[in-house]
Amino acid sequence: MAITLTINGTAHSVDVDGDTPLLWVLRDVLGLTGTKFGCGAALCGACTVHVDGVATRSCVTPVESLGTAKVTTIEALSETSQGKALQKAWLDLEVVQCGYCQSGQLMAAAALLAETPKPDDAAIDAAMSSNVCRCGTYQRIRAAIHQAAA
Ligand code: FES
Ligand code: FES
Repeated sequence: MAITLTINGTAHSVDVDGDTPLLWVLRDVLGLTGTKFGCGAALCGACTVHVDGVATRSCVTPVESLGTAKVTTIEALSETSQGKALQKAWLDLEVVQCGYCQSGQLMAAAALLAETPKPDDAAIDAAMSSNVCRCGTYQRIRAAIHQAAA
């Protein structure tokens, strides 16, 4: 079926089953491969995007559930000042190790800063605790969020 999705400010008509997870439409249909597949079961956060500004797991979000909601992916992170600040902090503090989880981490961090511009450690931990990093970059992620919020 034809479904219209608004991704990073652009309307896209895609011909997929309505129950197709958003992650697969982003990656396989639209070629937006910055969003990663980790667990496929809403457990790791690698696939995090924003749906109307809210951090959302695209691996368990059927495209038919989106309606007119606006989806933002890592490819558009730099279009906000907070997104730019996060990218700079991530580079300054060399947060990334293997990198696999980091788009999801950045999107979770961006949603946090949009809602709480100066989060304390507890707020950061609460917002980020369900984004898993097998390389254990959690301390640098927390420091980078503080830098971006400064
Ligand atoms: S791939 Fe979606 S939460 Fe793990
Ligand atoms: S940087 Fe490797 S999984 Fe997070």
